Amino acid sequence: MNKIYNTPLHVAIIMDGNGRWAKNKGKPRCVGHVEGAKNVNKIVSFAFDSGVKNLTLYAFSTENWQRPQEEISTIFSALENYFNNFASSTANGKIRLRVLGERNNLPKTLLTAIENCENQTKDFTQFNLNIAINYGGRQEIVSAVKSLISVGEEITEESIANALYTAELPNPDLIIRTGGEKRLSNFLIYQSAYAELYFTDVSWPDFTEEDFSLALKDYKNRNRRYGGV
Ligand code: FPP
Repeated sequence: MNKIYNTPLHVAIIMDGNGRWAKNKGKPRCVGHVEGAKNVNKIVSFAFDSGVKNLTLYAFSTENWQRPQEEISTIFSALENYFNNFASSTANGKIRLRVLGERNNLPKTLLTAIENCENQTKDFTQFNLNIAINYGGRQEIVSAVKSLISVGEEITEESIANALYTAELPNPDLIIRTGGEKRLSNFLIYQSAYAELYFTDVSWPDFTEEDFSLALKDYKNRNRRYGGV
């Protein structure tokens, strides 16, 4: 496959539209999350083959706790299942998995699956897959600043960046949101200061390699000036 010129180093995706996708088919919202989870590996592989080196997926926000318990449980079990199968299938010796977010109140079995998966893939260097779970950009900034203050470190743009969940990762170049809404919803708000944004009406369960490719082509034509001329 041809590498697209000017491929973003880091793509982040807000996987939105699962609930509406299911509703439009007369099915419960949870079905949308199950289908959404099934779509993940195809997109990870496509990102890998396209030359993207870092992919971050927004799976559960700090605000998503407001959803019905059944929906939360469905998302958490899809995630647990994904992590439990990750090292033997998806990663295949290449992909390092990281989870970004506050882990304290996650279910114990999910936490164990996350820790095992992170451990099993920690030496893989070709590609970083980051899944944001119980993640909120404002919460992330506040805890970063608090941790710097607690050790008496100076507050600078760089010290904050180094205290975020994404400390070891480059800033996202391209943020894609599926499902038709045009907002960031508290996702990577510190890191996305100069990210290019791409919105598509396609719901996450329907988002294909072709749709991803359109986003990468669109990115290629952007003129990134970072405040300069
Ligand atoms: C947003 O759609 C999606 C979520 C809150 C959950 C995303 C989770 C998954 C795709 C499953 C697990 C992921 C992995 C990495 C295995 P929505 O429910 O807000 O959709 P709506 O806007 O149509 O209601």
